[in-house]
Parts: sequence; C-alpha cells; structure tokens
Amino acid sequence: MARKIIIDTDPGQDDAVAILLALASPELEVMGITCVAGNVPLEKTARNARVICELAGRSEVRVFAGCDRPLIRPLVTAEYVHGKTGLDGIALPDPAMELQPGHAVDFIIETLRAEPAGTVTLCPLGPLTNIATAFTRAPDIVAKVQQIVLMGGAYFEVGNTTPAAEFNIYVDPQAAEIVFRSGVDLVVMPLDVTHKVLTTRARIEGFRALGTPVGAAVASWTDFFERFDMAKYGSDGAPLHDPCVIAFLIRPELFEGRRVNVEIETQSELTMGMTVADWWGVTDRTPNALFMNGVDAAGFYALLTERLGRL
Ligand code: RIB
Ligand code: CA
Repeated sequence: MARKIIIDTDPGQDDAVAILLALASPELEVMGITCVAGNVPLEKTARNARVICELAGRSEVRVFAGCDRPLIRPLVTAEYVHGKTGLDGIALPDPAMELQPGHAVDFIIETLRAEPAGTVTLCPLGPLTNIATAFTRAPDIVAKVQQIVLMGGAYFEVGNTTPAAEFNIYVDPQAAEIVFRSGVDLVVMPLDVTHKVLTTRARIEGFRALGTPVGAAVASWTDFFERFDMAKYGSDGAPLHDPCVIAFLIRPELFEGRRVNVEIETQSELTMGMTVADWWGVTDRTPNALFMNGVDAAGFYALLTERLGRL
C-alpha cells in the first residue's frame, strides 16, 4: 500500500527535483500538489508545478493554487536564487494541464477529513502558509495528519536568508509557529542536513547521463541553481534541499537527527523566523520535532539518480 502524501511547494528547482522523486517512487501516492507563494509569486509556482508534472508524464496529478502571501508579513521571494521564472536553467513549454478548481487550503482540509486518521502525510517544501491556514480554518484536521515532513529551519548551520533564519521559515514565521506548535508528528529537514547533500560535477553529470528529458532538465536546473550558493559559500556545489523530504519517506535510514524542542522567533526583527532548537536539552520545553542533522549523501544521490532514471 503506497503512502499517501500531499506535497506543498513553491517550485523552485529543488522543489522540482523533490516532486520528480516523489512521482518516480511507487512507495508514494501523491494525492495532490498544493502551491504556495515563496521562491517566486503564486502564479509562477502554480505554473511551475504543472510544468514539472508534465515533464514527468504525469498530467493527471491534481495541482492546486493556494495562498499568495504570508499570513501577516509581506511576501519575500528568491528570484536571486531561482531566476525570474523560478525554474531557470532550462526553458520548458507552458503547461497544457489546468489547475484544479478550488483553493489548495480547501483541498488539504477536504482530503484530511475524507481519509482515515493517520493515513495522509503532509510534505511542505516552502513557506508554511497553506498548512497553517488549513489548521486554523479546520482545527479538527490536525489530529488526522499522519506526519509532517518539511524542509525548513536551521540551527548549527545558521540562516540562509538572514543571519538567523532559513528562507521557508523566514517568509512566514507566524505560519511556522502554528505548525510547530500544532502537536503533529513533525520531521524537520533543516539546512543542518540539506547542506550535507551538495551537488558536485559528477553528481550533476550523473543526472545528465540518464539521457532523458528529466535527466537533462534536472542537470540544467542544478547547474543554474548551484551558482548562487557556490558564490556565497565558496563551496563546490549547492544543497539540494527539498528532495531530502521525499528521500526520507522512501529511505529514512539515510538520515539521522534528534527529537528536540523547536520554537520559532516571531517577535524580534533581528532574529525573525529563527528555528530555536533546544539541541542540548537545556530547557524544560517539550520536544516537538525530529530535527535532522546527518545524511548518507552518497546514498541520497544514488537513490535520487536511480529513481529519476525511471521517468
Ligand atoms: O532555504 C531553502 C528552501 O527555500 C528550499 O525549499 C528552497 O526551495 C526555498 O523554498
Ligand atoms: Ca522550496
């Protein structure tokens, strides 16, 4: 029985690789893709999600547009990383498939209400605005969520958007606070772990060597996407953040972390959006998240490349 998931996303090249990994993996049933404003505005993330589905030959996947701005703060986007389209690196045709009617938040609520409790996993890959809005509008669904596995946050690795905050959390800290305090079984893939799955020339050539449109697209996307982080960090490659979420669902043993308390800064502008992880247990705050900080990077890329080769 495939595990039922909803991917909430702001594509973004790394989101695209995560979505392709999910669509290539029979262990997972993608019930829908819900789009949110983040890397680029909602109109573009909702377009990009459909471009990715069509690239995978999966135009039957239901794609929904969701929130076009954070709960309270103004939208902050990341074209400087992802390019104007959000999927710069290769030009792909506009999608033929339509968006589903209805709002992504309503799809999340209706799906969780319709499915048996504990059978649907939420996989947020961008700001948590859609998830927080659904939890606020329909508190009854919180107890029905099997697990949330999200990409976001940072502790030892510090922020990538401000000195204190990682992008997904920084864009909508109030939404993150709602999700992290919801009591849901939460697995977090922060920069502490995603910065350990850096692209390399060989890994990108491994994508290209697949000899398929998917392989070519992923190689081109990662070529484009890595330039910003390599310049900033002086590294030899860039972190493929979002696919860590999907790889965890398929092979959790690739990852390691610690169950700790994680709170979100929502008061100070200086540290807004910081994920304050009590890694050493110095407070009496209740642990609420499995916070990952270790990964078998070679195993991750082997899984990713093998699965992409199936599309
Ligand atoms: O900070 C990295 C995260 O922000 C990734 O999800 C990337 O796609 C962007 O959304
Ligand atoms: Ca993302």
